[in-house]
Amino acid sequence: MATSSSSNKNNKTSSKITNIAVLASGKGTNLQSIIDKIESGYLDAKIAIVISDKADAIALERAKKHKIAAMFLDSKKATSREEYDKTVVKHLEKYKVDVVVLAGFMRLLSKYFVEKYKNRLINIHPSLLPSFPGIHGYEDAWEYGVKVSGCTVHFVDEGCDTGPIILQKFNPIKDDDTFESFKERGLKIEHEALPEALKLFCEGRLKVEGRKVRIL
Ligand code: GAR
Repeated sequence: MATSSSSNKNNKTSSKITNIAVLASGKGTNLQSIIDKIESGYLDAKIAIVISDKADAIALERAKKHKIAAMFLDSKKATSREEYDKTVVKHLEKYKVDVVVLAGFMRLLSKYFVEKYKNRLINIHPSLLPSFPGIHGYEDAWEYGVKVSGCTVHFVDEGCDTGPIILQKFNPIKDDDTFESFKERGLKIEHEALPEALKLFCEGRLKVEGRKVRIL
């Protein structure tokens, strides 16, 4: 089996602050967790740009409130997935982005995008992958009746939620949970997991070896 090995150390010089782009379609609570962890000093990085495919995404409001460049890019104006992604990448390049974070970005990315940001493209998913991929992670895990769920932060490849896993955190289901309490606790766990993974990236401590991500 062919395996590739690469550390994200080479993507930037150690003295340079990591430029993050966040792509988000919705509420942006994961975006907020990154903003908070940067402001608290936990994360040594800068959010250079927030991009959304939804004009009314609360994520855009959150960015503006923190004086972060925020942009709505309308997918209806593009004739194909790749054309849309090329527009997104054009902006990412303008902002000299080191790493792209999908924080509730509900669009599949083209091969073009994934190859452009290989091992620099990170997604958070609200289940323990490979269980329950797709856009209804919480609902699907809850309805299945799992006893333990959680979230996964992973590098993105061309599949749907299939890329190499950086870290996973558990969310055990309690007897008296409702779907709402399960999801509320799950989101809090996501808000720890995503900044933790990003911190590892920013410190150049993630080494991708085929499907495995080693933490240095
Ligand atoms: C989060 O639960 C995230 O894991 C999920 O969307 C939500 C976005 O919330 N992502 C996916 O399901 C991706 N397949 P947020 O906008 O409040 O960060």
